[in-house]
Amino acid sequence: MAVATYEAIAPRALKPALLELDGISRAAVEAHYKLYEGYVAKRNEIVSRLADADLDSANQTFSELRSLKVDLTFAIGGIKNHEVYFEHLGGSGGEPPGATAELIERDFGSVEAWRSDLKATGMAARGWAWTAYDWDEGRLFNYLGDAQNTFPVWNATPLVALDVYEHAYFLDYQTDRASYIDAFFANLDWGVVNDWVGRYGIPTR
Ligand SMILES: [Fe+2]
Repeated sequence: MAVATYEAIAPRALKPALLELDGISRAAVEAHYKLYEGYVAKRNEIVSRLADADLDSANQTFSELRSLKVDLTFAIGGIKNHEVYFEHLGGSGGEPPGATAELIERDFGSVEAWRSDLKATGMAARGWAWTAYDWDEGRLFNYLGDAQNTFPVWNATPLVALDVYEHAYFLDYQTDRASYIDAFFANLDWGVVNDWVGRYGIPTR
């Protein structure tokens, strides 16, 4: 018995500004974007296979089902993480504006403290560091992730997604992750982040 309908999704286009970043090369971004396209293809393949899965003989397919469902979280995590990442690069860094600045200052004390914490989180992580608004606590956290599917938390909305997988920086910086993170901050488009804060209705008080 099939349990789901299959609907493919398409990768989002890469913004032209992403090919002209300062300190993150076009070659690195293009290779990185191909990985993102791979997550989309993988997600579509898995959703298709799950739609066709025969659950009536589930005793034989639990391990296969487990593998598909774990891989689905990895693929969808890879999509969501990279859509935030690519969307909010292409700017000129600097200080966050308006509501975003208010949120960061309220929850971290200062923009500098937030930046230091996110950088340290990125140095400590194996995959991602995110600044996300937790709707239950009503505040920002810098969360650590070791992979595309670990460790996001429920009911939190990512506003900054710092990719620290080696694939994000090895071409440009080899093992110098700290310099890559500095380049990441220098290319952040705060206008995009500030639009998200407004669109999601994140309260600043
Ligand atoms: Fe990545």
